[in-house]
Amino acid sequence: MTTTLITGANKGLGFETARRLIAAGHTVYVGSRDPERGRRAAEQLGARMVVIDVTDDASVAAAARTIEADGGLDVLVNNAGIEGNAVGAVEVTADMLRPLFDTNVFGVVRVTHAFLPLLRRSAAPVVVNVSSGLASKTLVSAVGTPTYAYPGVAYPASKAALNMVTVQYAKALPDMRINAVEPGYTATDLNAHSGTQTVEEGAEIIVRMAQVGPDGPTGGYFDVKGSLPW
Ligand SMILES: NC(=O)c1ccc[n+]([C@@H]2O[C@H](COP(=O)([O-])OP(=O)(O)OC[C@H]3O[C@@H](n4cnc5c(N)ncnc54)[C@H](OP(=O)(O)O)[C@@H]3O)[C@@H](O)[C@H]2O)c1
Repeated sequence: MTTTLITGANKGLGFETARRLIAAGHTVYVGSRDPERGRRAAEQLGARMVVIDVTDDASVAAAARTIEADGGLDVLVNNAGIEGNAVGAVEVTADMLRPLFDTNVFGVVRVTHAFLPLLRRSAAPVVVNVSSGLASKTLVSAVGTPTYAYPGVAYPASKAALNMVTVQYAKALPDMRINAVEPGYTATDLNAHSGTQTVEEGAEIIVRMAQVGPDGPTGGYFDVKGSLPW
């Protein structure tokens, strides 16, 4: 039996990932910072629910204790994320970056650090960090690629930092499969549903990398078509 925690799974890509992994036979914990939103999602999915605010040490520690007491964890999907406002380089301030880094980078480190002891006890531990194509310095700096013509600093910078966090975890923990994924521009609350993909399409690469076997890749950065340039 594979036990999986997905942070921020009460809606959007996390919810759809939960639905697909449950269908694939995983026992899934819907992570939600709001107990009521989490309860409703878990009920709809037939999942377990754990309250977890990735910006809060005590909340993350309590979630780890709960899942440890229930029997442990095999797969961690660090999905919870925020986009904030797309403020460009001329206007952006350090304070504008802080909440993005707190959730998208420090949140992932906080959660991963807390769950590492559980993952190390798993026979086939897997971590999926939900990044973005906007994390790619190659794609964002390329001329004439309108897909990556996003003007904001905070979100791409936070996801680029997440990519490096992913690489360093993967190097330090060669017995785990740890990858970053880009779901693609997907209609969710994150972008007021302006995304051009459905959540079914967006969740595909998350689901695939959550099920990667011990011989699968680690330390990589993937979208649904394959490896992405860093
Ligand atoms: N949609 C896209 O086009 C796209 C593209 C590339 C990457 N991504 C990434 O995909 C991931 C999921 O995004 P989405 O599009 O599904 O957005 P979403 O529908 O807004 O869902 C985001 C989820 O993260 C949760 N969350 C936010 N802050 C949290 C915190 N401090 N602690 C715990 N949970 C928190 C939200 O909970 P609440 O409901 O309580 O707010 C929600 O469940 C994010 O990491 C995002 O950056 C999205």
